[in-house]
Formats: sequence, C-alpha cells, structure tokens
Amino acid sequence: MQRTLVKDALHSESAQPALLVQGWIRTRRDSKAFSFVEINDGSCLKNLQIVVDATLPDYAKIEQLTTGTAISVEGKLVPSQGKEQKWEMVATRVNVLGPADQTYPLQKKGHTLEYLREIAHLRPRSNLFGCVLRVRSRLAYAIHTFFQERNFVYVHTPIITSSDCEGAGELFRVTCFDPAKPPPLLDGKVDHTKDFFGRPTYLTVSGQLEGEILACALSNIYTFGPTFRAENSNTSRHASEFWMIEPEMAFCDLAGNMDLAEEFVKYLIQDFLTHCREDLELFLRFVDKELLQRLEFVLNRPFKRVSYTEAIDILVKSGKTFEFPIQYGVNLQSEHERFLTEEYFKCPVTVFNYPKEIKPFYMRANDDGKTAAAMDVLVPRIGEIVGGSQREERLDVLQENMKRHKMNAENYSWYLDLRRFGTVPHAGFGLGFERMLMFITGVGNIRDVIPFPRTPGHAEF
Ligand code: 4AD
Ligand code: MG
Repeated sequence: MQRTLVKDALHSESAQPALLVQGWIRTRRDSKAFSFVEINDGSCLKNLQIVVDATLPDYAKIEQLTTGTAISVEGKLVPSQGKEQKWEMVATRVNVLGPADQTYPLQKKGHTLEYLREIAHLRPRSNLFGCVLRVRSRLAYAIHTFFQERNFVYVHTPIITSSDCEGAGELFRVTCFDPAKPPPLLDGKVDHTKDFFGRPTYLTVSGQLEGEILACALSNIYTFGPTFRAENSNTSRHASEFWMIEPEMAFCDLAGNMDLAEEFVKYLIQDFLTHCREDLELFLRFVDKELLQRLEFVLNRPFKRVSYTEAIDILVKSGKTFEFPIQYGVNLQSEHERFLTEEYFKCPVTVFNYPKEIKPFYMRANDDGKTAAAMDVLVPRIGEIVGGSQREERLDVLQENMKRHKMNAENYSWYLDLRRFGTVPHAGFGLGFERMLMFITGVGNIRDVIPFPRTPGHAEF
C-alpha cells in the first residue's frame, strides 16, 4: 500500500477504507478499550489521532509505546468523535519501526529554545521547529516565484572567491596549506602562489560583484545562496553562515531598486499569509501575539523613505540616549534602526544616500560629493533586512573609489572592464533570508530559523 502523509489524511475529502501512515509518536493515552496514539510525520503541524482497539493482536506491545517511537500503521480513516479534528484513523495493524526509550529528550512538555538548540538533531521534530522549517521551504519557493514571474534569471555565483566585496575584512580563508607546517614564504611573506588556487581565497561574503557581471549581460538576475562572514558579533541577528538573495538590475537606478525591494518584501509576506496559515497559528499562539497585526500593517502601507541625513536629524532630535551616540557620519546601529522603524515611523523605513565614507567602494557617488546612492530597508524588531545600492558605473569615479579604499586595482581588472565595455547604470540589493524568516515568523533569534546555525564558537552538528 502506498503511504499517505498525515497532512493529506487530515485534509481528506472522504472516509477511506484502507490507508497506510508512518510517523513518530507524539503522545499516547489509554482508555479501557482503546489506546489513542497521536502521530506526526512533519508534513504539517497537526497530529493524526490513531485509535487502537484493545482487541488488536499485540495490544500489550502497543500499550508500551512511548513518545518518539517510529511506527507504521494500517487502518481506515473515519470521521473523528472528538471535535479537535475532522478525521481520525482506526488501526488494523501497528508496526514498530524504531523504538525510542524514556530518555528521548523531546517529551511532551514544552522546552526552552536554548535547550532545543543543544539538541539540534532532534529539534526538527518539535512543533515550533517543524513550522519554521516548512515556512523556510515555502519562503525559498516564493522567492524563486517572485523573480521568475518577473523574468529575472537565476544565476549561480561562486562560493570560493578571491575578492572581498564588502571590504570589511570579515573573510573565512580557504587554503590547502597544512596548518601543521609553516607556509612557504617569498620575501618574508606567505607565498600564496604555492597554495591551491595560486592566490589568497575566501568563502564569499556576497555574490554581488559576479552578479553585476551577469546583470550586465542578462539585464535582470538574482542569486540565492549561502554567504559567510567571520564577524565576531554575538547577536540574535547575526550568523557566520547565512543565505542571501541578491537581485541585480541593469538599466536601473536607486529609486527603481528601492521599489523592487519593497515590492519583494511585501510579496513574501503575502505569500506566507496565504500559504502558511496553520504554521502562522502556532507562531501567533506561542511566539508573538502581534505578528499577524504587524504583517498586515506592513503590507497595507508604503514603506517610509528618508535620507540618511534626515534619519540622523530625527535621531539627534529624539533626545534619546543611545548606547552608541549618534551624529552625522556614523553607521546606524541596531538600536538606531529600531528606534526609527518601531518608535518614530512605526512602519518599515528605507534609508537612502549614506555618507560615502561608511559604505563600500562599489556604491555610486552622488552629485553632492558627500553621499553614495545606498539604501537599507529597516523593519520593526529586526532593523536592517535589506542592504543595497546603485553601483558606480563610471570608470574614473570607480577607480578613484578603489584608491580611497586602498584596493589593488589589478585584482579587480574584470570588474573595471565592465565599466570599459558597454557600461550601464545598474543597481541591486541583498535580502538576508534568515532575517526575513525571523520577520515573518516572529522568531526572535536567528539561531532558531536555521537548522544548524553557525555562530562564533558553534559548528557542531
Ligand atoms: O548589507 P549587506 O552586507 O549587503 C551586501 O552584502 C551587498 N553586497 C548586497 C547587494 O547589494 N547585493 O548584506 C545584505 C543583507 C543584510 O541587509 C542582512 O539582511 C543580511 O544580508 N545579513 C546578515 N544576515 C545574517 N547574519 C549576518 N551576519 C548578516 N550580514 C548581513
Ligand atoms: Mg548592510
């Protein structure tokens, strides 16, 4: 018999004379004549209730079954007596596939998120994590749909690179030098020509630079892949390995870029509200009671757009004491971003035109001589969710920027060539996949939206 998923059984249109379901026992309780076994197979949040009649052969064994045990059940689907669910299953045969004893860590009682992180190999079987993982999957699907519907080409940029796109020096090295031996030297310095790639290489912090190459051929592209940052920040919003979506558009300026970012974020929220209702219910009950209200609020109004200069003005005039004092020229910290979006505007905010000194070399210089055509989208509870810019398409200005950033132009000759041969205005941004997931689920820590998070000091599993 072919296996039926719990989700399909629960959504069945009619009773079924014979079906086979398989899953893990969540709970079991006995009455005189029956045992009620709830199983879950991860296809949805809800469990399927299985009624096992005491007259079944091997009933004594069934009475011993504990939480966590994997079973296979044949039986029929009948209207449920209880009002919790429409259907339940009456077993004709129960097979134990994999027992689990009393030491199974996920007993019925609720567990703290901190404890669940310690058992990352078992937490996918918890209600919350099951919901997070299903939403994560749906979100990835919606991202592809959004761009495919708009004729963006999905491109794959390298994970191993020799450039530091963001120029922040937060790179994980990729090397085949033997750590037990001193590396070969040339004139007193490490001789990278002897290493695997013949040059220093790293895990990418962003696919943008290669994305620009592809956009300057295919017009509209997007990447969706893992990125890595060796940034020693232990916050609830930073991971050392996270996924980023990076659209890049030729023939596009900062305004077009801000429009796309807003449309994209709203599309993803709408998709979640349409397709993940059951999971949403759980987030509303156990994670964040105001989630739905917040998401609908965000969907229904335009994001507020303010220049960096205006934002600084608002922050200075607020009279608030911040941990990091605020003045023109500093980077916005999370506390500033959250003040703007949560307290001042009370909606998502797109901040644009940052001082060029605090932004990477590739951002387009504005005519004021002071600012770059950068933009960040800030959302309540998280702060920055999108970072992007219009790119510097003028060869001479770009070369000037690279000098200012003390970059070796030789290593970026390919990037400069894009400005030599048919250069065009272009723009793009990066959306942090996990930050978006935190925003739509209400989950407060990035460690709880990634199956196996990598953060400073943590890479088990
Ligand atoms: O602002 P960032 O650093 O921008 C870039 O990397 C650009 N090259 C993107 C582009 O224009 N194509 O990162 C983009 C987004 C941030 O807004 C944030 O959502 C997320 O990536 N992000 C992180 N998410 C989790 N952990 C971290 N350590 C993150 N760093 C950035
Ligand atoms: Mg940023």
